[in-house]
Amino acid sequence: MRHIDKAVALLFAGACATAAAAGPDYAKMAHDMLSSDFRSKGPATVERVTQQDEVQKICSAQPAARSKKVDAKIEASQLKTIVYPADGVWLGKWEEGEKIAQNGRGMQSSDAVGSVNGGNCYACHQLRKDEISFGNIGPSLYQYGKLRGQSAEIMRYTWGKIFNSQAFKACSSMPRFGHNGILTEAQIRDVMALLLDPASPVNQ
Ligand code: HEC
Repeated sequence: MRHIDKAVALLFAGACATAAAAGPDYAKMAHDMLSSDFRSKGPATVERVTQQDEVQKICSAQPAARSKKVDAKIEASQLKTIVYPADGVWLGKWEEGEKIAQNGRGMQSSDAVGSVNGGNCYACHQLRKDEISFGNIGPSLYQYGKLRGQSAEIMRYTWGKIFNSQAFKACSSMPRFGHNGILTEAQIRDVMALLLDPASPVNQ
């Protein structure tokens, strides 16, 4: 079995073992194997899989560890991490935002350290109508700005969602783009424009 398959199998087994509260600690075994056998290459560091922050730990645990109260705590703690644009400028260029949304590169072993990342939004969301290749893990964002408008609340919420998705949904599968340094402030501005600028193809 390839190492990665073995590690995934152990992680799953670990989750089951925790539920039964018996047997070997497979989760720990998987963690130890990843730490000792895997090597960092470029921006793809082993720590990204072996070192979880508090939120990731809770989200990786058994669903039984979750409750409305726990989720509310996660959301409150993540909300505090959001850095809003200091100059109050929310929107950049939608043309750049479209390129970022289409770009799925970044943080892979073949990328140079410090290279610019994409947002890969299309992997999970529909955005513009004439793009036929998109995923549906997330809701369609087609006509997002046309439907929501540009009130201060919508600007703040949309920025916050992109910056740290877990501030609004604990254990969300959407990457925490700002919080984890995947996208820069300027890139978030451009993606905001893609969603909210009336001239953006998203709002046609
Ligand atoms: C791996 C999948 C994934 C990727 C990649 C992703 N999202 Fe999401 N997104 C989701 C999911 C799932 C939701 C639904 C709420 C939740 O679970 O957080 C969501 C919700 C949203 C919302 C809130 C929608 C609403 O109706 O309130 C916005 C805005 C959004 N995403 C923007 C983006 C942008 C912009 C990008 C790219 C920079 C992006 N997403 C990339 C999965 C993803």
